[in-house]
Amino acid sequence: MQFLDIFIFKSSAMLGMYLGEKVNLRALELDDLDIVMTHWNNLELRQYLNSQIPMSRQTERAWLERATTQDPWRDGEMTLAIEDRKSGEFLGTVSLFDISKQHKRAEFGIAIHNADNLGKGYGTDTTRVMLWVAFHILGLNSIYLITMDGNERAQKAYKNAGFKPVGVFRQGAYVKGAFHDFVIMDILKEEFFETYPPGSSVGNSP
Ligand SMILES: CC(C)(COP(=O)(O)OP(=O)(O)OC[C@H]1O[C@@H](n2cnc3c(N)ncnc32)[C@H](O)[C@@H]1OP(=O)(O)O)[C@@H](O)C(=O)NCCC(=O)NCCS
Repeated sequence: MQFLDIFIFKSSAMLGMYLGEKVNLRALELDDLDIVMTHWNNLELRQYLNSQIPMSRQTERAWLERATTQDPWRDGEMTLAIEDRKSGEFLGTVSLFDISKQHKRAEFGIAIHNADNLGKGYGTDTTRVMLWVAFHILGLNSIYLITMDGNERAQKAYKNAGFKPVGVFRQGAYVKGAFHDFVIMDILKEEFFETYPPGSSVGNSP
């Protein structure tokens, strides 16, 4: 029984839908609520995100209930859990928002939750894998994002993954007593396909 448990644990940590070199992207589950609540109400993390207001367990549960039943074409959104490919540790979430069937376009968003896991390459790898999903699975043509001008770590990770800065959305965010510009970045399918053409994968996904 113990041997079987170990085998199943190891197998689930290695198998995955969308593999990168360091991460596995999987569906969110309602069981993720505890781990999401552990690091979500942290201003260091949230200062670069849309809202700096504390999220109650009830609000997060309601969000998780929506996120776990999303269909990208019906709801225009797909959020996946990011986990360490080897250990299975939950790292955060990555999303495509405003998915447009007509325009084949979506907005990208990501958050690594635990500050101890920042700057270890997870964001770059996750971004590559989610772009692979956007272009190779969903068949989208253009992915864009906005990020606060002071968020250099994010901009480096996005550039590493292939995004290019294309403009500035002036004073789009009011955080910690000041307005901040947003840097707009995007990537087209044809650009991503230069590195990851049809038949290729980021982390040897089947
Ligand atoms: C943005 C985020 C997803 C990036 O993921 P990450 O795993 O931390 O990033 P990576 O380790 O893949 O890459 C970070 C890059 O920035 C550099 N970097 C790391 N810490 C940095 C810092 N404090 N300041 C500037 N650059 C930094 C790294 O050297 C690396 O660049 P390089 O590969 O060219 O050397 C992650 O930091 C995060 O979730 N932050 C909090 C929420 C957030 O900002 N979300 C994005 C909102 S748009």
